[in-house]
Amino acid sequence: MDGATVLVTGGNAGVGLATARGLARLGARVVITARDPAKGETAADEVRAAAPGAAVEVLDLDLASFASIRRCADEVQRRVEHLDVLINNAGLVQTQYRLTENGFETTFGVNHLGHFLLTTLLVDHLRASAPARVVVVASRAHQGARDGLDFDDLQSERLYRPITAYNRSKLANIYFTRELARRLAGTGVTANSLHPGFVASRLGRDGDGGTAGAVVMVLARPFAISPTRGARTSIYLASSPAVATTTGEYFAHCRPAKPARIATDDAAARRLWELSEALVAAPPDRG
Ligand SMILES: NC(=O)c1ccc[n+]([C@@H]2O[C@H](COP(=O)([O-])OP(=O)(O)OC[C@H]3O[C@@H](n4cnc5c(N)ncnc54)[C@H](OP(=O)(O)O)[C@@H]3O)[C@@H](O)[C@H]2O)c1
Repeated sequence: MDGATVLVTGGNAGVGLATARGLARLGARVVITARDPAKGETAADEVRAAAPGAAVEVLDLDLASFASIRRCADEVQRRVEHLDVLINNAGLVQTQYRLTENGFETTFGVNHLGHFLLTTLLVDHLRASAPARVVVVASRAHQGARDGLDFDDLQSERLYRPITAYNRSKLANIYFTRELARRLAGTGVTANSLHPGFVASRLGRDGDGGTAGAVVMVLARPFAISPTRGARTSIYLASSPAVATTTGEYFAHCRPAKPARIATDDAAARRLWELSEALVAAPPDRG
């Protein structure tokens, strides 16, 4: 990865921090984003300690704010001449129904829509940097969204269940990746999604998946893998020559994997893309 620049969203914790560390060790210049600048600087120091001499930078990014996303994308274009890899890693589970700054349900707004806006703002930069890669951290949890997305209620206004919203947001990550790959075919920019494994990170703890979710996470913790192991597939997709031209695929354990059948519905992927374009163009700005 010598000479390559990688942008990792949510690079201050968990899988994102381990991904940044691993790629810095491979010689990449790593730009991590954090919504809390202090956490970002602490994480950057950790990466520098693990990869002495590595170039590590921090950018502010709150994916629940379009203004923050636009500032971050502008800053990337100003600072980074060649953006070789974008890793859409940040994610959350949210107990309460809450709105983003622009009026979207937060799980959908952060996990899908925020990354949708960031990527579309950076796509010309990626194309100009080709060969380049987009890596999307989805989850096996997409399998839980058995009936697909509810296009009549993408914001869960009728019924909000934290895990359902999370599962659907992860299905949206796979749809987004497949449609992005289709749109970027022949440009030298690839897009692949992945499941990192069940990782002992902060996701779903602190009660943000609800009390039942927190209990399940504590009980299941002995079976969880470390963030370092959880970062392997992200690092593989960002760096391996073996996947330099692979695009539109879903990976687990550094190998192509079969997503749920519902995730291969490319008409739904296209519909989500078109709706997402409309939503970012005219946000409700509630709350
Ligand atoms: N852990 C698992 O078992 C598992 C399994 C499958 C998939 N995943 C996926 O892996 C990815 C990383 O999760 P993790 O397990 O590493 O969880 P984590 O330790 O909670 O890290 C999540 C990261 O996302 C950031 N983030 C949350 N909300 C944000 C916002 N509004 N704007 C910008 N950044 C935000 C967090 O920042 P703060 O530190 O400020 O909160 C943190 O850096 C997620 O996409 C998750 O869905 C995880």
